[in-house]
Amino acid sequence: MTKKNKTTDLKKLSWKDFYSTPLEKKLDYFEKDNRIFDCLFSQQFRKEIIQNLFSTASKIRSVAKQKEGLDWLQTLLSHKRAMLYFVQPSTRTFVSFQSACHILGMKVSEIRSTSTSSELKGETPEDTIRTFSSYADMIIMRHFEEGIAEKAAWLLNKTKRPIPVINGGSGKDQHPTQALLDLYTLNWAFNDKGGIDNKTILMSGDLRRGRTVRSLTYLLKNYKNVKFIYVSPEYLRITDDIKTFLKKHKIKYKETDDLTGSLKFADAVYMTRIQDEYDINNESKNIDYSKFHLKKEHLKLMQKHCIIMHPLPRRAEISVEIDSDPRAMYWRQERNGMWIRTALIAYMFGVDGEIMKRW
Ligand code: CP
Repeated sequence: MTKKNKTTDLKKLSWKDFYSTPLEKKLDYFEKDNRIFDCLFSQQFRKEIIQNLFSTASKIRSVAKQKEGLDWLQTLLSHKRAMLYFVQPSTRTFVSFQSACHILGMKVSEIRSTSTSSELKGETPEDTIRTFSSYADMIIMRHFEEGIAEKAAWLLNKTKRPIPVINGGSGKDQHPTQALLDLYTLNWAFNDKGGIDNKTILMSGDLRRGRTVRSLTYLLKNYKNVKFIYVSPEYLRITDDIKTFLKKHKIKYKETDDLTGSLKFADAVYMTRIQDEYDINNESKNIDYSKFHLKKEHLKLMQKHCIIMHPLPRRAEISVEIDSDPRAMYWRQERNGMWIRTALIAYMFGVDGEIMKRW
């Protein structure tokens, strides 16, 4: 069956049937002209797209250093408008996407709470999203509901005015652009150490409900012989779907609750906070999370080249005393988010080639 016929068939499905269709069977639905049209899942990124985004991000970063370069970048998408629909709290994803739009000259509108949109009057998220497509050329969204970014893209792709959707975090599900910035940071840090292949990534914390851990695990499949050490309290272990994915792709992993004893094996330590906003009955209160805090005394147990990462925001998972250690990478990660998100938007609107031709 041709790609076009497959997409036409998918368009006929109800949302329930579409949502339950395995991801590999519906990825084409979110592509146009062999490019990602809607950025929803980490599994959409193949190695060549990742490398293209890394090169574009680095080029943007260098061009934007000079006023003349930044002025030029701001001409590229000055005819485009983005809707930032962020109805779950966010600082860095929101501001970095807003900055990314500004770097490319886009105009932005924003809604940051369902209490200030017509959803308070009973409008559905679906109608709200369709409304954005009347005014904007792209929707960048953060939402508390799993699958809602996919639903937005599914819905808009059936209308006469389909506009691209970027998932800036959807419930416990995925945060693909966080994974991109994490990967860009890993690539930078291991540039003179053989790259990301063969590295051991330790992920610690709330692995059950942390969407950044899920999305980064999926994305790292693009690299050879990457191994994972998942460190968490028993209740917050990685979920079965992630384990199935790891087994299917023959990716080695280990689960443990021993952070201190595992540090020496890691090339990167990725800390995360407890995601208690997803508690149903205050269950986080019964978990001793202090064993999953990285403290100054841990630093001597880690390899000299081992980098320390965190998607942020943090609570006590990384002591502030660690911030000045050269291996601490989380503030760089945060800034990298702006460059890689700029590159992603440029790619999605097809101006990445022009950027790469710039001297
Ligand atoms: N890492 C991350 O998504 O941060 P925000 O919640 O501040 O956007």
